[in-house]
Amino acid sequence: MEKINEIFETAQKEIKKAQTLKKLEELWIKYLGRKGKISLIFSSLKNLPPEERKKIGKEANLIKSKLESLFEEKKKEIQKRLKEREKGKKIDVSLPGERIKPGHLHPLTQVLDEIEKIFERMGFSVVFGPEIENEWYNFDGLNIPKDHPARDLWNTFWIKKKKGSKKYLLRTHTSPVQLRYMERHTPPFRIIAPGRVFRFEATDASHEIQFYQLEGLVIDKKISVANFRGIIEEFFKSFFKKRIEIRLRPSYFPFTEPSFEVDLKFPGKGWLEIMGAGMVHPKVLLAGKLSPKNWQGFAFGLGVDRLAMIKYKVNDIRLFYSNNLEFLKNF
Ligand code: PHE
Repeated sequence: MEKINEIFETAQKEIKKAQTLKKLEELWIKYLGRKGKISLIFSSLKNLPPEERKKIGKEANLIKSKLESLFEEKKKEIQKRLKEREKGKKIDVSLPGERIKPGHLHPLTQVLDEIEKIFERMGFSVVFGPEIENEWYNFDGLNIPKDHPARDLWNTFWIKKKKGSKKYLLRTHTSPVQLRYMERHTPPFRIIAPGRVFRFEATDASHEIQFYQLEGLVIDKKISVANFRGIIEEFFKSFFKKRIEIRLRPSYFPFTEPSFEVDLKFPGKGWLEIMGAGMVHPKVLLAGKLSPKNWQGFAFGLGVDRLAMIKYKVNDIRLFYSNNLEFLKNF
């Protein structure tokens, strides 16, 4: 009897001191486990005379259930404390607050802004034309006659025609802005015309049905290919913040003569095509109501997405139009 009470006293103290669930578990095994101190008392009962067996058995049962409730209480207490500690972690007032991420300009807008700034420093004005264009500005006025094979260079989204109205389309390039500007202004002038253009084409990593071009037009009395070269060399130097090797490659556009493609050389990548250009065709000057006897100049059409892809090392043009925040976050 004394021994039972002694066991109970020490068990009670030990349970009270326990700080962790692990420790509590150990104590449970020590007292109530299969070979625990209380269990041993039960197994030793059979050696006692019936009178005592009854008495001691009763006492042992009482103590067993007392210990069980002590364990249960202590377990709840420890669990509650753990939970509170968990909660406390979530409102650690000493931690810096979470930063609110503000939005920012789209990478293409950033590149366009940068390009415009550079040309403005060189005396160019920024002008705009409509995205929905009529057939004349997009094609005929640019010396691309109807049914001429050159028209197939620009796969076109046509807009449903109302009876008797002009044929409208989504402009396939920014070159129509050349005509619109020439019609209304007297040279000399230098302009750039950035904007969205559309082509009815299959998309892949380097082709989109919509993309950005930046048209350039310089008209004066004596303008040559050398002027063009000088200006764009200066432009690329400012844009990439280092000297870039460029190459003019003979090409064909109905609205320029001679025409060329401009390639940029990048280490490890070789030559990359970045713009079409040329000396404005006399027929285009006439369509813009300027006399080729008095005026001449150059024009170019820069691929803005291309330039952005090179600058930011983006390998798929479609990413610019995907609204993918994971992508946009990088700029
Ligand atoms: N408009 C041409 C294109 O879309 C580019 C270009 C512009 C070429 C101006 C020459 C002069 O491919």
